Amino acid sequence: MKNITPKLFLVLFILTLTACGKDEQKNETIDVQSNVDQTQILSNLKDDFAGDPERGKRLYLQCRACHSLKKGEPHKIGPNLYNFYGKQAGSQERFNYSSELLDSKILWDYDNLDRWLENPQALIPENKMVYVGMRNPKDREDLIAYLLIETQ
Ligand code: HEC
Repeated sequence: MKNITPKLFLVLFILTLTACGKDEQKNETIDVQSNVDQTQILSNLKDDFAGDPERGKRLYLQCRACHSLKKGEPHKIGPNLYNFYGKQAGSQERFNYSSELLDSKILWDYDNLDRWLENPQALIPENKMVYVGMRNPKDREDLIAYLLIETQ
């Protein structure tokens, strides 16, 4: 992803602060680690919004027949995507996923989502999402921005 340098500095800064902290603070840090995957991915969210969600909303018309985004909405041909980001593929309850998608065990971080939207069959062969892929990187960036806002 772009702009990795500021992020790196931020991480180093936080690590320095943690290293200087008292023992109590260290314990808190350890507790938080148990959920490190989704927390870590969600902490990158600000950068993932780099795209234009208004454009993304129009691009989402390609997905809308098969996916809902808001909490509690029913699944369609594809799963409801509420809060999917940062989780393992196939985590939405009561949706009948393909074994290929479940076995992939990939995490929905930015890069995997980007690869999925570019060409779902290349990322997870034989999965059952019938979508040809979105080849333009800028389109995917905008669509992802919209998806991340709408599924929080
Ligand atoms: C023709 C219906 C269809 C279209 C169009 C479609 N999807 Fe899907 N999508 C599915 C199905 C079905 C699955 C589950 C695939 C499986 O189990 O192999 C899926 C899975 C997904 C997942 C993984 C969800 C999870 O819980 O792991 C994401 C993310 C996703 N789709 C996003 C999109 C986006 C964004 C678009 C628009 C660019 C889109 N899909 C277009 C049917 C569709």
